[in-house]
Amino acid sequence: MKNSKPSKVRLDKLLANLGYCVRKEVAALLRDGIITHSEGLSLKTDTKVSHDEILFENEPLDPPSGIVILMHKPLGLVCSHDDGEGKLVYDLLPLRWRMRDPKISTIGRLDKETSGLLLLTDDGQLLHRLTSPRHHVAKLYEATLDRPLRGDEAEIFASGTLMLNGEKFPCLPAKLTVIDDTHVTLEITEGRYHQVRRMFAAVGNHVTALHRSSFGDLTLGDLEVGEYRLIDPNKITE
Ligand code: URA
Repeated sequence: MKNSKPSKVRLDKLLANLGYCVRKEVAALLRDGIITHSEGLSLKTDTKVSHDEILFENEPLDPPSGIVILMHKPLGLVCSHDDGEGKLVYDLLPLRWRMRDPKISTIGRLDKETSGLLLLTDDGQLLHRLTSPRHHVAKLYEATLDRPLRGDEAEIFASGTLMLNGEKFPCLPAKLTVIDDTHVTLEITEGRYHQVRRMFAAVGNHVTALHRSSFGDLTLGDLEVGEYRLIDPNKITE
């Protein structure tokens, strides 16, 4: 997804959309010298500006909309915007980023008890494309199992015939790699609800730990648990 060159927008709208303040606060922030022009030009709340002309407390603004974040999701955090569900993955981002419009959302979800590579974006079209059932990028999971493998799981997962409870269509072929009899990696190209846990449940097992280590060509690299970085949206396999 290419980022088009940012067009000029009203100063108050730009700052409100980036979560710095509400529009009616901009006049006071201009008066107090908190919001300034990088080349010293005078500004009013309705001046049409481009993102890179403006400073907030002498610092360049946060990145404009069209961002993609690669996060190393810790266990115990929820992929939801609802505070009532517990600690959220969004709590790891700067507070201001939670006020942005368009809003930042996760691209698909990882369960509360799944760790690993999570993508987030404020680009609605990218989000829609990557979460569409027609989108089949490979995602690799590392799973720990409660019981030793039976031996036929790789064949069943690869067959493209495995039906999950309550679903109309079988899972697409998935690739199981055995590390030992309770440790595996599983590569799937779909993103059904609790898919990996349900696939193992369908063959009489139970996943006790789950971690996503890659999404398309993206990996966590040296990103520590709870850390995140902005990535080039063009790096995402589509
Ligand atoms: N499959 C699951 O069961 N859980 C996840 O979080 C991701 C894939």
